[in-house]
Amino acid sequence: MDRQFWINRWEENRLGWHQEDAHPLLIKFIADHPLPSGARVFVPLCGKTRDIGWLLSRGYQVVAAELSEIAIRQLFDEQGIIPTIRELNSLKHFIAPGLDIYVGDVFDLTREHVGLVDLIHDRAAMVALPDDMRARYVSHLAEITDSARQFVISFDYDQNLIAGPPFSVPQSQIKALYGPSYTTTLLFQRDIPGGLKGIAPTTEQGWLMEKQ
Ligand SMILES: C[S@@+](CC[C@H](N)C(=O)[O-])C[C@H]1O[C@@H](n2cnc3c(N)ncnc32)[C@H](O)[C@@H]1O
Repeated sequence: MDRQFWINRWEENRLGWHQEDAHPLLIKFIADHPLPSGARVFVPLCGKTRDIGWLLSRGYQVVAAELSEIAIRQLFDEQGIIPTIRELNSLKHFIAPGLDIYVGDVFDLTREHVGLVDLIHDRAAMVALPDDMRARYVSHLAEITDSARQFVISFDYDQNLIAGPPFSVPQSQIKALYGPSYTTTLLFQRDIPGGLKGIAPTTEQGWLMEKQ
């Protein structure tokens, strides 16, 4: 899954993962684990997720990262917000009140870019990365956020039935990836009606990762 794969998906407007509304598991998570007003949420690999507008509407600040500039221009258009844009070295910084989005590779983000973060909201981000990138991703996020709390949505299905993304990351892998640094709590799980892509029986899981 190289960068070009995702750039192409945005250029071809093939966005099967995109949801028109905020994710119901995020809404439930925040209802059960309210954040203080003004809390800052990091949304890695954000695409043009409606979760960002929803978080802003709840009074939270958002910092996010996304490879595709097409995605971020669409996100701002859909929110009706005109950003200020700053060129950084390998990143472009889109700025609006309460919102910082970096266009570029999430691995190029540093602590200084992200700032203090109260929560990481990871929907279709960790599961979008192939197996050999996931451990690096998990440790990079821990490094740039000082191991901030994470809400991670994952999928568990038979990887032989369909190729990812999204990839299957079963409980054993979740524990292997996050377990050394975080306590991992399975908060929710539900079967996806009809299975993933209408083929693979799939359980969607919502995890809380907390620094040990
Ligand atoms: C499956 S989509 C999920 C988007 C979003 N989280 C959502 O729920 O709609 C994965 C996104 O990650 C972006 N992406 C993939 N690799 C990336 C990387 N290394 N750095 C930043 N963004 C990346 C892709 O362009 C794509 O928009």
